[in-house]
Parts: sequence; C-alpha cells; structure tokens
Amino acid sequence: MIIAVPKETGKLEKRVALIPETAKQLVDKNFDVWIEKDAGHASNFLDSAYEEAGAKVIADRDKLFSEADLLLSILTPPEEDLQKLKKDSVLVCFLWALQNEELVEKLQSLGVTSLGMDAIPRISRAQNMDALSSMSSIAGYKAALIGANELDRYLPMMMTAAGTIAPAKVLVLGAGVAGLQAIATAKRLGAKVEAFDIRPEVKEQVESLGGTFVEVPDVGEDTETDSGYAKELSEDKQERQRQVIHEHAQKSNIIITTALIPGRPAPLLITKEMVRDMQPGSVVVDIAAEQGGNCELTEPGESVLKHEVKIIGPLDLPSRLAYHASKLYSKNMLALLNLLIDEEGELNFDFEDEIILKTTITHHGEIISPMLKESES
Ligand code: NAI
Repeated sequence: MIIAVPKETGKLEKRVALIPETAKQLVDKNFDVWIEKDAGHASNFLDSAYEEAGAKVIADRDKLFSEADLLLSILTPPEEDLQKLKKDSVLVCFLWALQNEELVEKLQSLGVTSLGMDAIPRISRAQNMDALSSMSSIAGYKAALIGANELDRYLPMMMTAAGTIAPAKVLVLGAGVAGLQAIATAKRLGAKVEAFDIRPEVKEQVESLGGTFVEVPDVGEDTETDSGYAKELSEDKQERQRQVIHEHAQKSNIIITTALIPGRPAPLLITKEMVRDMQPGSVVVDIAAEQGGNCELTEPGESVLKHEVKIIGPLDLPSRLAYHASKLYSKNMLALLNLLIDEEGELNFDFEDEIILKTTITHHGEIISPMLKESES
C-alpha cells in the first residue's frame, strides 16, 4: 500500500501531515511511504530526514496523487489534485464536510473514501486522535503570546527601583481547548486573568488554572449540546452577556476571544462600542476570525488599529508553530491509522466502531457520517 503525503498548498500553510518519526513507524509496518519533495521544509522536517526514515521523496506531484492508496494531508487538497486520485483510494485530512456539500459530492462521484480529521468524536478513546484539540491548544498558546507581544506593557507584576508595576489584565472569552490554553499561557506570563464561557462547568477548569470566572446571571442554562458543544444563545441572553463583558473589557489590557458554535458564525461578543471604551493601547486577539470573529471590528487575517486598540484576527495560528503542530497532527493521524489498519496491514472500515463510523465521510460513493446524513434529511 502506498501512503502519500503532499506538500500543503494553503497560502499561509507551513505544516506537514506526517513527520519523519511517524513516517518511520509506517515504514516499519511495511507500507511504502511517499512524501512530496519539500513537503516538510516549512516546518523544518527536511527531505533527508524522511529518506533516513525509509520514506521515498517524490518530485512528481501528479504521480503522488494518481498512485496513492492512502493520501494524508492537513487541508483538503485542491480539486485539480483530488481529480487524480484513484477510485477506492482513501483520503484523510480536515474536510469540514457539513459546510462543504460540493466537496462531499465530488468525493462520492470519484469513489474516494474520505475521513475528516475534524469529524473525530470528542470521546476519551479518541483523545490521542483529536487534531482539533491539538491545533486549538496551539492557537490559544500563540494568541496569548501575540497579545503579550503587541502590548506596550509588562504582563507580570514588576518591582523595580523605579517603582512597582501592576500586572496586566487579560480577559479570555470562550474557555474551550484554545481558551484554556490561552488562560494557562497568560497566567505563566504573570498576567491577571479573567475568563467567561456560556458552559457553566468551565468555571472549575478556569479556576484550576488560576483564572477568575466572570459570572453572567441566568446565562448558564441549557447552553450545551449532547456532544459537549455550545448552543447559540437567544438574542436576549446574548445582550445580557455583552453588558457584563462590556464592564470587564474596559478594565482589560488584552482580550483573547475564542468563542465558537459548530456550524454557525462566531457569536458577537465585543461590539464596536466596547472597543471604543477600552483603554488606549489595549489589544484584542480574535481567534474566531475564521468564522467571522467575536469582535465586530475584526478583519480576518489582518491587524487593524481602531479607537487606539489593536485588533488582530490571525488565520494561521497552528502554522505559526509549524514544527510542533506537524508533530502533534501527525501523531493524531497515526493513532487514527492504527485503529483502521488490521493485523494483515489492510485498512478495515469497521462501522461498528463509533470513531470509524463518525469519522468516515464517504465510502464507495455512499455517505457514511451519521451527522452528515442527518443534516441532509
Ligand atoms: P469550540 O472551539 O467549539 O468553542 C470554544 C468555546 O467557546 C467553547 O468552550 C464554547 O462553550 C464557547 N462559547 C460558545 N459561545 C460562546 C459565547 N457566546 N460566549 C462565551 N463562550 C462561548 O470548543 P472546543 O474547544 O472545540 O471544545 C468543545 C467541547 O468539546 C468542550 O466541551 C470540550 O471540553 C470538549 N472536548 C472534549 C474532549 C474529549 O476528548 N472528551 C476533547 C476536546 C474537547
């Protein structure tokens, strides 16, 4: 079986789906591992390291796609490449199938079996495969560093001969995987951290990291789906939430926003009026920029200055830590493959297994993902 890894084509993309260490583990299981020339270069995994691991470096991208039995990537490859995949080959990458109807139809018509790294269920058994968590954690870490870097103040309290400096105040909105990592990172840098999330059980997690949980009366009921994700709040509750956040925003030096609701635009948490009332020199880092942003003035992919507040909407946070992002993604990928590969070294699609069932989007031209089937009916 040929396992192939292309060079990513996204403009800001620096990650690679398989690193030499994980390539070696697949080579040791007697797979042919092909890696496109320079695929790991931007994340400092050189072709020579892949060759040492027993992989083959391929310069011809067409050959890589047309001969692959199993193609591993991070972002969905462009259509002109997908077109070259063999019928019954298998593609594993981020697919965002629910938001990508045309892509799913294409994969069905090509007869390609596809697995979405974003569709892996958030259950304990799948934790080592959970690429969304690994990437979100990196995003939260980097967002805190960007905030610290852009601020014209110290983060920790400083006792100097010239006087004492109070610690900076950081407000984190949305305390899922990214938010919790942003809290932990800002705390390690010495800031005073407050956080808010609509899921009430998050309070304990925020406090365990040394943050203070911001209470919004009557918001924390029926805010979570069965799979643990946030639900969209009613307009009335959103307004109440914004009033409380407004007060805290005025006292914060850095705001990091991470709030997302699956399949919906990011909720609006920071209005332009709140930005206007923030202290000059403050910084907003909006991780939700890709889904439209949690701040009304965010321009996705840009850094803008509004009312003397810097508003940053990065779209490539995991790529800014490309070495470790590739390493973690590649380990997540390997854990998923270990579940799929049977004792004979074949891919075995056992749909009795919840992880395989929920992660497989298309197989032999059929839609498998129960979530996708449900959304289509
Ligand atoms: P996410 O990226 O979908 O959302 C980020 C955060 O924004 C969430 O905590 C959400 O509650 C919050 N949010 C949404 N609307 C908001 C609003 N209006 N105001 C403030 N906050 C708002 O979430 P993520 O990080 O992907 O985690 C989703 C869930 O999955 C969480 O419950 C998490 O604990 C759980 N999880 C479970 C894992 C497992 O293996 N058991 C692994 C990873 C996550």
